[in-house]
Amino acid sequence: MNIMLKLENVTKIYPGAEHIKAVDELSFDLPEGEICTVVGPSGCGKTTAMKMINRLIPLTSGKIYIDGQNVNRLDTIELRRNIGYVIQNIGLFPNMTIAENIAVVPKMKGWDKNRITERAERLLELINLPPEEFMDRYPRELSGGQQQRIGVARAMATDPPIMLMDEPFGAIDPINRDHLQNEFLRIQDKVKKTIVFVTHDIDEAIKMGDKICLLKAGKLVQFAAPETMLTEPANDFVSDFLGGDRTLKRLNLLKLKAAMRPDPPVIMEEESPEKAKAMLTELKVDNLIVVDAEKRLLGYVNHEALEKEADEVRKVTRPTDSFMPASSSLKDGLSEIFTHDLGYLIVVDDDKKVLGVLNTEDIREILRR
Ligand SMILES: Nc1ncnc2c1ncn2[C@@H]1O[C@H](COP(=O)(O)OP(=O)(O)OP(=O)(O)O)[C@@H](O)[C@H]1O
Ligand SMILES: [Mg+2]
Repeated sequence: MNIMLKLENVTKIYPGAEHIKAVDELSFDLPEGEICTVVGPSGCGKTTAMKMINRLIPLTSGKIYIDGQNVNRLDTIELRRNIGYVIQNIGLFPNMTIAENIAVVPKMKGWDKNRITERAERLLELINLPPEEFMDRYPRELSGGQQQRIGVARAMATDPPIMLMDEPFGAIDPINRDHLQNEFLRIQDKVKKTIVFVTHDIDEAIKMGDKICLLKAGKLVQFAAPETMLTEPANDFVSDFLGGDRTLKRLNLLKLKAAMRPDPPVIMEEESPEKAKAMLTELKVDNLIVVDAEKRLLGYVNHEALEKEADEVRKVTRPTDSFMPASSSLKDGLSEIFTHDLGYLIVVDDDKKVLGVLNTEDIREILRR
């Protein structure tokens, strides 16, 4: 595991404000390809910490290494070109088109025109804005959320290994924000950047972070994976900051895939009802999942359904909506279990193939761990 970003006792004292350390002996290691969300109360030093990484703010003391190189030894201009930066409130240039906005850093790096255009088109596709429709528009002709996405695309223009994002979704309403977060995570899954992501929203920090860096008055209070922070908060400040609903937050974070019981008993559609009845008795269950030859979910059968005359299970199979993709959260899964009458949830992949099952007792067990 390569450490892409390393902070070592990083301290910032602003001139004229010598009585406070805006950032106080901050140290952490961030592995390549991970997102670190930086969170904490207003004024705790999040923006300051972030801006020291690309040297927009000079360090008072301490060291920052990117991929093993001390940033103080790197040329500032080169450094900034090699770090994608998304500032608060988007910061697109209003007098430039979307294509020109995205092209700013590639141009500075001396890329040729074709390469820049190709790159801009690819990035727009990545963020789900059709290039032919958006390339030549101006920022004011886009919605806030679309502008935000362009901000992210622009920061990714020259494929920098590290990205710094200061409250990138701060100004967006909750619904679009959720959408942007999901889209961002989908992209990150492919591009695997090392990202420092500032937010003041603890839910966003938990959702987006592989690691959370929680600051208080410039000091690091806890640096940990979200699940660890939720189960083992370092002190009362952390548990207060996480809120009283830590268990629910864990439900939101955990995925069905991690909680399900894999390879549940299933019966193939062309089997006989006799066999299904025998399985129900043998396994001491109320119902059986019916699948096709590809193991795709077709429905279920119970004793009542099997009373009817039929030569194949398929003919008495009852449909069910009690299934969800493995990537869904436990929270959504739990809510689904309560809405359907099966008493458990069938976990499927994108092709609706049965992967596992989950009931409320399984969820309770997971939360107890
Ligand atoms: N240029 C400056 N000169 C003096 N003090 C500053 C300067 N910029 C920030 N500070 C102080 O440093 C501390 C950290 O500020 P910073 O902007 O890093 O906080 P933040 O965590 O990003 O807050 P917010 O959530 O409100 O954006 C604050 O006490 C702030 O008042
Ligand atoms: Mg800030």
